[in-house]
Amino acid sequence: MAYSLITLEKSKSPISEAYRTLRTNVQFTGVDSETRIIMITSAGPREGKSTTVANLAVSMAQTGKSVLVIDADLRNPTQHKIFGLNNAEGLSVALVLDQDYLDFVKETAVPGVMVLTGGPIPPNPAELVGSKRMKRLIEAVSQKYDIVLFDTPPVIAVTDGAILAQEVDGVILVLASNEVNKDYALRAKEQLDKVGAKILGAVLNKADLKTSEYYYYYYYHGSDSSPKKRKSKRHKKAD
Ligand SMILES: Nc1ncnc2c1ncn2[C@@H]1O[C@H](COP(=O)(O)OP(=O)(O)OP(=O)(O)O)[C@@H](O)[C@H]1O
Ligand SMILES: [Mg+2]
Repeated sequence: MAYSLITLEKSKSPISEAYRTLRTNVQFTGVDSETRIIMITSAGPREGKSTTVANLAVSMAQTGKSVLVIDADLRNPTQHKIFGLNNAEGLSVALVLDQDYLDFVKETAVPGVMVLTGGPIPPNPAELVGSKRMKRLIEAVSQKYDIVLFDTPPVIAVTDGAILAQEVDGVILVLASNEVNKDYALRAKEQLDKVGAKILGAVLNKADLKTSEYYYYYYYHGSDSSPKKRKSKRHKKAD
């Protein structure tokens, strides 16, 4: 299976724990201001935007919040695949026909998570995402759900993400640790800064735990022979 909702299937795994940490961090960034409409993007393709959106949605819903996922990657919608939904209709249709988005919102197998799938791929995605209808839709969803998470295309490749970034409360940038080109990541950030987006933070995705300090940390402490001195030193670093 290309996609898995690990927060649902393996809720006790370290990866699910990482999504819970992300949830907590997002909650902290919203302490002083309302941060409920959040867009997830990345510099390039395949860095893990859609996976992050879906798992963050599940993780947030597990705290009792109502979460709407909107698939605004109209060029390559995937949320319907992750949640196993039909995509014959969705955001693109709601915008083109100026029809109530609620007609297209679908419930998922996860209590509290609703999805507005992308719908059929339109010829003018950037225009639709930047339309007045889209603004009205964002206003309407903000009245109805506790949290709204937007999936988007890569911000360097097309303008859709930068356009949407101006309408949301905050943006999370997903960076694939082994694949991301630093210049690209910086360019993505610059592009978002330029339109006045509020960047809440970045997610380092696809980190190779086997070679990282974190893996070493867990591995090291899993063994009985771990010297005490190293242990406390590592502990501080991890905190
Ligand atoms: N942390 C991870 N570890 C391993 N594989 C992952 C991870 N995150 C995502 N993937 C896998 O990488 C692929 C790309 O992920 P995803 O579709 O979420 O990225 P994307 O940024 O939304 O891509 P696109 O730009 O095509 O929309 C998927 O097959 C997904 O299952
Ligand atoms: Mg995607």
